[in-house]
Amino acid sequence: MNPFSYRDGILHAEAVPLPQIAADHGTPCYVYSRTVLQSRFDEFRRALAGRDALVCYAVKANSNLAILNLFARAGAGFDIVSGGELARVLAAGGDPAKVVFSGVGKTADEMREALAAGILCFNVESAAELERLDQVAGSLGRRAPVSLRVNPDVDPKTHPYIATGLKSAKFGIPFEEALPLYRRARALPHIDVHGIDCHIGSQLLDPAPAAEAAAKLLGLVDALAAEGIALSHIDLGGGMGIRYRDEAVPSTAEYLAPLLAVLAGRKERLLFEPGRSLVGNAGVLLTRIEYLKHGEAKNFAVVDAAMNDLMRPALYDAWHDILPVAQAAGAAAEYEIVGPVCESGDFLGHARRLAVAPGDLLAVMSAGAYGMAMSSNYNTRPRAAEVIVDGSRVHLVRERERVGQLFAGERVLL
Ligand code: LLP
Repeated sequence: MNPFSYRDGILHAEAVPLPQIAADHGTPCYVYSRTVLQSRFDEFRRALAGRDALVCYAVKANSNLAILNLFARAGAGFDIVSGGELARVLAAGGDPAKVVFSGVGKTADEMREALAAGILCFNVESAAELERLDQVAGSLGRRAPVSLRVNPDVDPKTHPYIATGLKSAKFGIPFEEALPLYRRARALPHIDVHGIDCHIGSQLLDPAPAAEAAAKLLGLVDALAAEGIALSHIDLGGGMGIRYRDEAVPSTAEYLAPLLAVLAGRKERLLFEPGRSLVGNAGVLLTRIEYLKHGEAKNFAVVDAAMNDLMRPALYDAWHDILPVAQAAGAAAEYEIVGPVCESGDFLGHARRLAVAPGDLLAVMSAGAYGMAMSSNYNTRPRAAEVIVDGSRVHLVRERERVGQLFAGERVLL
């Protein structure tokens, strides 16, 4: 079942007509489907059935507390990249013992917070970070559980801004340096070596590079075992892509099958860090057309959502389908779908054929991942409201920001 579908010409989220949400909560508004959130997580779990595996949702994709709480209740762990994300996971009822901490720039404070919380593992991304973590753990009289994030140097064949596993990336530890750094980790007094980690990129539609990365990792795991460094888990990161337009997208089971084949018979626990694939197609951005501008070269539909609400088109030239909430029979024209922000890069879609009028609602599809999470207050625009639809019920899970909140922390000079 598609939870965002037309009934009598009106686009619904599950059983709720989107115009009702716009009337009750205003626009722009992020609308998520509980059914999709739950079913995407279940698909992952089913695909991993029979394996000792933990799905650590990548919080950065969408960090709303209600979403984190739903995943926590479903048994998920979490992949975090900041002390802020750790605080969110804890506030949402997540289990710190299922948290892995990734990222190239962990501060000493963030390390302390994570050690105090008792997280599952630090995914260490450099030699310098390993030394700092040893010191910080020592100063607390603790030992830090560690995986090294190894850069397997495979081409994930995705957008250069979200490819992370190539040699040229800032992420991870070069493959050749991993073995000596594991030896160093073993020798450090406040470090416990637990696992190995990699994440090669995002929006991957072909599982082959991920399977290749897994195979490279296994070679290293075996070399470590030969030296007496036994790892208990292998973390394969996130990256599984979703359909934004007309891409051929493997199902979760199809995507994971080649990886699991490479890992067949291994006794290590498997970790995954999916973000986009769990939430991307669970959400839409609901927006209203303020004005239509018919020009000589182009027509513009100026909507009340902008690049500050959904940055992906401006940043990556990403495509999001844009659907009229009410299917109209009138004459269609081609529009640039743009926001009110004072930048030429402020667009949500180019050359979209729509039959629309001012005041009409549009739904920007596949906006559940890296939408709200990457939003900003540029142009002093309060951030959108967020709701989760569950059947015929609508839950407001983040209220619309108020302008006063935006400068409440600012001071003028005396
Ligand atoms: N693990 C690590 C270490 C990561 O860096 C990421 C994403 C993930 C897991 C989750 O990857 P996913 O399953 O969502 O592909 N803002 C970009 C995507 C940036 C991804 C950054 N890292 C976008 O909107 O496409």
